[in-house]
Amino acid sequence: MFVQSIDISRFRNLEDMHLEFAPGFNVFYGDNAQGKSNLLEAVYTLAFLKGFRADRIPDMIRFDQERAQISAIVCDRNAQTRLGLELTGRVRHAYIDGVPCSSVRNYLGILRAILFVPMDVGFMQAPPANRRSALDRMVFNLHPSYLIDLDQYQKICKQKAVVLRSESPDHTLLDAYDAQLLKYGERILKARYAYFSLMAPHICRVFASIFDDSFRCLPVYKCSQMRTEIVFGTENTESCEALVGAWREYIQSARDREIARQQILSGPHRDDWSLVLDGRQARYFASQGQQRAMSLALKLAEIDCLKSEAGIEPVFLLDDVSSELDPVRNRKLFEHLNRITVQTFLTTTSKQHLSIDCVNRLFMVRSGSVICDA
Ligand SMILES: Nc1ncnc2c1ncn2[C@@H]1O[C@H](COP(=O)(O)OP(=O)(O)OP(=O)(O)O)[C@@H](O)[C@H]1O
Ligand SMILES: [Mg+2]
Repeated sequence: MFVQSIDISRFRNLEDMHLEFAPGFNVFYGDNAQGKSNLLEAVYTLAFLKGFRADRIPDMIRFDQERAQISAIVCDRNAQTRLGLELTGRVRHAYIDGVPCSSVRNYLGILRAILFVPMDVGFMQAPPANRRSALDRMVFNLHPSYLIDLDQYQKICKQKAVVLRSESPDHTLLDAYDAQLLKYGERILKARYAYFSLMAPHICRVFASIFDDSFRCLPVYKCSQMRTEIVFGTENTESCEALVGAWREYIQSARDREIARQQILSGPHRDDWSLVLDGRQARYFASQGQQRAMSLALKLAEIDCLKSEAGIEPVFLLDDVSSELDPVRNRKLFEHLNRITVQTFLTTTSKQHLSIDCVNRLFMVRSGSVICDA
């Protein structure tokens, strides 16, 4: 899939504009604070109906204006769809081919995008809740129905938490909530497990081919109720049934402690994940450069995985990555992106960071205006 063209009006500092993109590699270059990331955010917002910096709609509307609009033509195989988005005050209106869209679920997924921003480099040091959201988004990208189980699970968690905080918690009610939590939680665990099983070889291969072939980079999952972590992509990876079984046993034995602490002590909403290098937690010993490479490898693996498992070719949004990599890895990254042939939007402050022969269209960004160089 690719974005053929975009129309932007009163979005952040950007001048009103119409841009035509190449199906391959599109680069926005310019000095700091000119509007490069805002351009990526316009594409991202159209895909996900929210920005990647702040979730507040008013922040995305140009200062002193009341409404912003973004629309784009998205091509997927032989079909063309016009996506439209209007942001007014705190409200957003989405359109598919000019028709107002009543359900977000019908809209999400028409434009698939994977985003890498410099902040992603720190994902291993981020709070577990951020990593869980990132994982949930990755699994959702591959299996959109995952969101339904996740919504249900979160709803039941909230209800059970209310009972746990009550003066004399009703055990029959807690039994009923536990049964529901296990039902949806098991689906979530299975989906996450299956996802990492699929992703492990992709992450390992991408990391080795672009960044460093002397380490095996693999995903690791940590269940809140288990001491050990499960490393995927190895022969002795614990089965998903064992995980679910351990959780089932734990939930039955934890009732008194949950009541005493007035909180749910186990389940997918407390689990965590990360990446390991040769089995060691990268969070604790990997260098800055290695962590950067791992976070980028994760995104590239996600693209590989979507392509090979679901035939989906997402658009890749890469904010300011070249300045983070050394010249050899930067060149390998460009070669990789060229090879996988997904439409890529990349921002950079300097053309020096680019492998120019890969670039299909070059846009210079200055004070919110964009000039197409080539
Ligand atoms: N709602 C808004 N209205 C007007 N201007 C805005 C709005 N939101 C952000 N800006 C401004 O847009 C400018 C460009 O921001 P952007 O993040 O796109 O810069 P950039 O070109 O990516 O720079 P850098 O290279 O530093 O990352 C900033 O000066 C920012 O203050
Ligand atoms: Mg920027």
